[in-house]
Amino acid sequence: MKDHLKNRLKRTVILSLVAVVIGGGIGFFQAKDPKSRVVEKPSRLEPMAGIQVGGPFELIDENGQTVSDKDFSDVYKLIYFGFASCPAICPTELQKIAGTMKALPEEQADKVQPLFITIDPARDTVEVMHDYVALFYPRLKGLTGSQEQIDRVLKSYRVYASKVQDEGMSDYTMDHSSFIYLMSPDDRLLSMYRIQDTAEKMAQDVQARLTAQP
Ligand code: NI
Repeated sequence: MKDHLKNRLKRTVILSLVAVVIGGGIGFFQAKDPKSRVVEKPSRLEPMAGIQVGGPFELIDENGQTVSDKDFSDVYKLIYFGFASCPAICPTELQKIAGTMKALPEEQADKVQPLFITIDPARDTVEVMHDYVALFYPRLKGLTGSQEQIDRVLKSYRVYASKVQDEGMSDYTMDHSSFIYLMSPDDRLLSMYRIQDTAEKMAQDVQARLTAQP
């Protein structure tokens, strides 16, 4: 591995950890009711009460079709934000989503739609997304859109994403936070998985969450 890639990887990991700390401190644990700041620690099988991410979106899928949150209102979602030319973290996390899907019992896997949403719509065109998601899992959908559409969905999921141009690199790269979100059909956050969570652990948690739902 080349040094600049190593440094990049190191920096992405550090930034992700910083995002966890900052996100944990200010963003993710804000109560839905602004008057109530105290959020109980969620028990293992309860939704992450009080943590508000998600919301309406309109994007374009890997076949060029316009899709919105309404198209996914009858399924659970495993959502990851990244970019197709990411050297290390994004492919690893998408492989974990694929591993999770394959580890689920079939009747549960059928109820889960994995989604990859780009943070880099300028380069991640419909064609790029089409070829990229196919590398990981047949049912993985790849969503892109205009910069405005992407900015809106990044904000509602509290995703950190920033362009970086390093010396000696011909093109820019992106620094970004790295979480996999498990969302319920009605758009509640059920779990968030981090870089250190394995596909096996995720599959166990998804199974438990789906079993616990009415
Ligand atoms: Ni990445």
